[in-house]
This record gives sequence, structure tokens and C-alpha cells, in this order.
Amino acid sequence: MSSIGIIGAGQMGAGIAQVSAQAGYRVILSDVDTERAQKGKDSIAKLLGRSVEKGKLDQAAADATLANIIPTGDPAAMSECALVIEAATEREDVKRAIFANVGKHLSPDAILASNTSSISITRLAQAAPDPKRFIGTHFFNPVPVMQLLEIIRGLATEQSTIDYVLDYAKKIGKTVIVAKDSPGFIVNRILVPMLNEACFVLSEGIANVVDIDAGMKLGANHPMGPLTLADFVGLDTLLEICKVYLDATGDPKYRPAPLLMKYVEAGWYGRKTGRGFYDYSGPEPVPTI
Ligand code: 3HC
Repeated sequence: MSSIGIIGAGQMGAGIAQVSAQAGYRVILSDVDTERAQKGKDSIAKLLGRSVEKGKLDQAAADATLANIIPTGDPAAMSECALVIEAATEREDVKRAIFANVGKHLSPDAILASNTSSISITRLAQAAPDPKRFIGTHFFNPVPVMQLLEIIRGLATEQSTIDYVLDYAKKIGKTVIVAKDSPGFIVNRILVPMLNEACFVLSEGIANVVDIDAGMKLGANHPMGPLTLADFVGLDTLLEICKVYLDATGDPKYRPAPLLMKYVEAGWYGRKTGRGFYDYSGPEPVPTI
């Protein structure tokens, strides 16, 4: 099977690397340096180890998956990849710089994809080597568990590019939905305003963290309450997405909750920093408000 490149070895990039390697792809997992890329690989090793302990995966399959993942800090390593998926920070300037850097090393028929959750694919394509071979591949966290892959067609995206990604999605066992290029695409357009609204409900003193989460878990059957999910996604990411919608549409319904902005200013990004709407320093999350 051909090689897949993943740029960004954080929680999303590592998840995409894991499912690709499990499907038999050779995966070039890159980050700003080899050390960071190796950290991403280590997190995959930990998850695979847990699955082996639970008896859900055999050791040989875990070893084969890990052997398929090559961590690197060198963008030139992407030259052998048929598909390269960028899963870096949700900031347009960062993504553009990556495309300019990696673009130089891609083979002419390679497909470049972005895991952006909110930025225009049509606009990002302008920074890619070939807009016809540029596409949005929006995965969901945790990638190994979530069934969905949302594909976003930019204005210039060619059908052959979509077909290639559909085939990749099938190989990694994801169900695909296809969206036109519009802020938030399908899922986040609906999900993010709900998470932001939960921050307003909290800041208006309508209910506390525990009751807001219990309300949506028990009253709407969501697997996680919205504030738990906001912490899980990352409050910084959530805020960036709200800002992108507001900038793109000018519609005040997307204004980020001031409390969300305050938490981000404080560096309380959720799980990844150990504190958000919950404190994660102990064995169980404890609400902070
Ligand atoms: N990585 C990999 N696997 C994980 C994981 C992680 N971070 N967290 C949990 N899992 C696995 C567990 O190992 C377990 O696997 P098993 O069934 O093979 O043993 C399975 O998921 C279930 O885990 P748990 O029993 O520990 O816990 P839950 O049953 O509560 O499930 C959950 C955890 C799957 C995360 C569930 O709470 C859930 O579905 N939450 C909602 C997640 C969600 O909405 N994600 C989308 C976020 S939005 C997004 O990503 C878009 C972006 O653009 C913002």
C-alpha cells in the first residue's frame, strides 16, 4: 500500500496516523522536530498497549501498526507520499506556512488534505501546490473511536481527488459525509454553537457545570456533556473556530462567550493543560465552577 504523510503529531494527527497504520499504510508522521513526532508515536503505542491489555488487539497487530509509523522532523520525507494530511494548529497562517514548506517536497500527483475544522478549503487551496489536488478531511476526536470522516470539496477540488480520499476512507474503515466548503461544514456548524451556548448558560449563572453536562447527557443522550466535550476538544480550539465563523459570516450568533475567552486567556484550555471547566489533576475530573 502507498505511503500517507501526516503533518502534526498532536492528538488529531496521532489518531489519523494510528488508523492509517492499522489499515496497513506506511505512515510518515511529521512535526516541527523528530522528538515531537516521536511523542505522537509514543501516545499511539500507549493506546495500542491498552487495547492489547484489554484483549481487543493482539500484540502482533499492535507491533505491526507501530512498525508502519515513521516519526520525522524533515518535511522532505513527505516526497514518497501519495496523500499528505495536515493536522496542525487551527490557524490559517500556520497551515499556509506548512503548505509552502511541505509543498516543495511533494510529488506532482500527490494529494494534500487539511484536517481543518473551520477554515475555508477554497482559500487554503491557494497556498497548496495544486488546488485541484487539495481537499478537506475532517476527522473527529478520538479518531480511532469516531466513525465519521467529513470530506470537504473546495471550489477547485477535482473529482479524482475526492475519489482517492473516498477509497482511503474505506480502507481505514470510516463512514464518509461530503460537505460543500462553508464555515463549519456540517458537524461543527451545528456542534460548536451548542458548546459555545453552554458557556453562555454557565456564565449567566443559569446552572453549574455538573448540571449543564448532566442536562445534555441525560436529556439529549449525548455521550459527553457540552462542557466536558469543550474541555476534550480544547477551549483554545473552540474559541478559534467561533472566531473563524464570526469573521467569515459577520453573524453575531457566532460570537464567542466571554467566559470562553477568559478561560483561554488564563491558559485553561481543558484536558490538554490539566484545567478547563474541570480540573484534571486528580484521578477524576472535578468541576472548577
Ligand atoms: N483515544 C483512543 N481511544 C479512546 C480514547 C482516546 N482518547 N478515549 C476512549 N477511547 C476508547 C476506549 O479505549 C474504549 O475502547 P474499547 O471499547 O475498545 O475498550 C472506547 O473508546 C470507549 O471508551 P470508555 O469506555 O473509556 O469511555 P466512553 O464510553 O465514555 O467513551 C468517548 C469515550 C468515545 C470519548 C465518548 O465519551 C464519546 O463519544 N464522546 C463524544 C466525543 C465527540 O463528540 N467527539 C467529537 C468532538 S468534535 C471534533 O472532534 C471536531 C473538531 O473539529 C472540534
